[in-house]
Amino acid sequence: MKKILSVIGARPQFIKAVIVSKELLHKYEEVILHTGQHYDESMSGIFFRELGLREPDINLGVGSGSHGTQTAGMLIGIEKAIDSVHPDLVLVYGDTNSTLAGSLAAAKCQVPVAHVEAGLRSYNRAMPEEINRIVTDHLSSLLFCPSEQAVANLSTEGIDKNVHLVGDVMFDSFRLMGDAVGKDDTLFSRLDISPRKFCLLTLHRAENTDDPKRLANILNAVNGLNDRVIFPIHPRTQAAIRRIGWKPAENVSVIAPVGYLDMVKLEQSAGCILTDSGGIQKEAYWAGVRCLTLREETEWVETVSAGWNILVDDDPEKIIGQFLSFHPAGPRPFVYGDGMAAGKIVRAIQNFL
Ligand code: UD1
Ligand code: UDP
Repeated sequence: MKKILSVIGARPQFIKAVIVSKELLHKYEEVILHTGQHYDESMSGIFFRELGLREPDINLGVGSGSHGTQTAGMLIGIEKAIDSVHPDLVLVYGDTNSTLAGSLAAAKCQVPVAHVEAGLRSYNRAMPEEINRIVTDHLSSLLFCPSEQAVANLSTEGIDKNVHLVGDVMFDSFRLMGDAVGKDDTLFSRLDISPRKFCLLTLHRAENTDDPKRLANILNAVNGLNDRVIFPIHPRTQAAIRRIGWKPAENVSVIAPVGYLDMVKLEQSAGCILTDSGGIQKEAYWAGVRCLTLREETEWVETVSAGWNILVDDDPEKIIGQFLSFHPAGPRPFVYGDGMAAGKIVRAIQNFL
């Protein structure tokens, strides 16, 4: 049986890999390598337990560090894994340092790379993710795009061979798990919230957390919203908040990061979502909940052009003003596939191998 080495390491990658791993079962011998980029129970372990993703075969335990330290540690570990596993293909997801290390190590070992979520661009090279995406796409032999825009982005960079428009594996997950979250209301009673009577906030992008002025602008605006705010906080943001000494107002509940099922439940029930996350902008769209994106630009331009997502940057006037006035109600076209992306990915891999 041919072998696939799947490289994952950060929260959104566990959610994406669950779906593809199931499709690979019995067709390939899949070796799952966790770089250890995320390691807290709430950032990693919970996703394996809750979503039924098999425990990784290899965990590099690389942990946190500067971009160079982290990526270099991963490169060494992934190269060793490639040498001992001899995979026929290395599968990488998204745009994190784990993605970059996986694709670079594989390409140097002359193993073909397949990139899930290829072709996304923010056209902002100050973002570490933009660099990771560009390098990974240019090293990949198989490129799986979530949207037509992603295919077009690759084409302008001269990449048009083995590019497959398959849709978004996160939509596959959202559809499947969305049905699984069920009617259990204990989450709401625990948080003392009612459906549609709260906002959901997430914030973790380096350009927001590592800039004290941007972080304070956003969080002070959030303190000024006349609604309950539930804020599952990323550890990076927790540390940044301590540095600037921000304190949540009474309406804001800062909670530990939640598992995917609770997150989907919160998204489906929120009155409004404020975020700088890539995945959550799309999930807001699929849930039919208005989204205020705390960034200057987005890769997920379709959610904005459909009218369900608005870029409010770190501007307090825009954040509070749009929170009060932005109430989309138009259609939400299926711009990210039909929820069957994983099957299409595995069929394309079969044809390729
Ligand atoms: C990474 C990705 C980002 C992705 C995000 C998903 C890169 C460059 N960035 O950002 O694209 O959107 O994951 O969540 O790869 N930390 C912990 N415990 C953990 C993990 C992190 O305490 O389990 C803290 C550490 O202080 C660490 C910081 O969070 O330094 C940042 O973690 P890191 O993985 O470097 O970047 P993310 O911000 O998580
Ligand atoms: N997520 C989660 N719990 C949280 C925050 C996010 O399960 O407390 C999920 C979210 O539903 C989405 C994914 O993690 O599926 C997005 O990850 P994140 O925002 O960390 O990264 P990004 O998508 O921006 O790379």
